[in-house]
Amino acid sequence: MSKVTVVGAGNVGATCANVLAVNEVANQVCLIDIKEGLAEGKAMDIMQTAQLMGFDTIVEGVTNDYSSTAGSDVVIITSGLPRKPGMTREELIGVNAGIVKSVCDQILKYSPNAILVVVSNPMDTMAYLTLHALGLPRNRVIGMGGALDSARLKYFMSKALKCNANDVDGFVIGGHGDTTMVPLTSCMTYKGMNISNFLSKEDIEEVVKSTMVGGATLTGLLGTSAWMAPGAAAASVAESIIKDQKKMIPCSASLEGEYGMKDITIGVPCIIGKNGIEKVLELNISQEEMEKFRASEAAVRKTTEVLKEMKLF
Ligand code: 2OP
Repeated sequence: MSKVTVVGAGNVGATCANVLAVNEVANQVCLIDIKEGLAEGKAMDIMQTAQLMGFDTIVEGVTNDYSSTAGSDVVIITSGLPRKPGMTREELIGVNAGIVKSVCDQILKYSPNAILVVVSNPMDTMAYLTLHALGLPRNRVIGMGGALDSARLKYFMSKALKCNANDVDGFVIGGHGDTTMVPLTSCMTYKGMNISNFLSKEDIEEVVKSTMVGGATLTGLLGTSAWMAPGAAAASVAESIIKDQKKMIPCSASLEGEYGMKDITIGVPCIIGKNGIEKVLELNISQEEMEKFRASEAAVRKTTEVLKEMKLF
């Protein structure tokens, strides 16, 4: 038996629960929200697609009853406000830090061994908060930003190359912010060959830029944060844990000296398996990429400083 809890039944949480169910990632999914009836309604709506989609996963929705989350292998935290057009993810810290902290206080009572996947923004800082508020070892807290940003990168690569998104590879490290993410051009490939064989420098730069503001572009179009890719990205991290897939997924991880960084939670390539972050990969990236990563580190530290001043842990 495997069980995943999704905290927050808003757009991202409900989409995540739906992907977990349709892909039969776990036997049970518990969707929980503070708003009376919201999680119950979304769960019931998902369950009414079970016969249509042909899945066996049971999705249950509850209002604020954390006892229903008991025995979860993975808990995905999506709680908090989404951003509005023109807003940065970092601006959400004041409200979302308190919300995420209150969620943290509940989870381990009922699922002491769960691996936590953090989605709430500002994502790197919320992962830092979760790790430190709960005093967990770093393998148990994973920020999902890099999975999402890398999926967006592959989308923009496939658009530029006019090819199938499954034929390209590439990933994004650094913070999950409009100016802090670092798409690695040295690792962008089409069928194993570097993208520079197919696209001009300018076109590659355009792919990088579009990826970095990928979330902001959608927020502008939708009037609120995106949810399809964020929900699916969180579900893909959960799947690698539940099925012990040991996939290399760029995630926000607490660094312990890798890349010369410590006391920071930031996007790096990780091996994700049943123990959560099983390995942080140290890539031999170019000097230019390392400089961008360092600038990203400085920006993420700035937001984390704001969190520390809030004295939540
Ligand atoms: C995004 O990039 C919500 O941060 C999320 O769409």
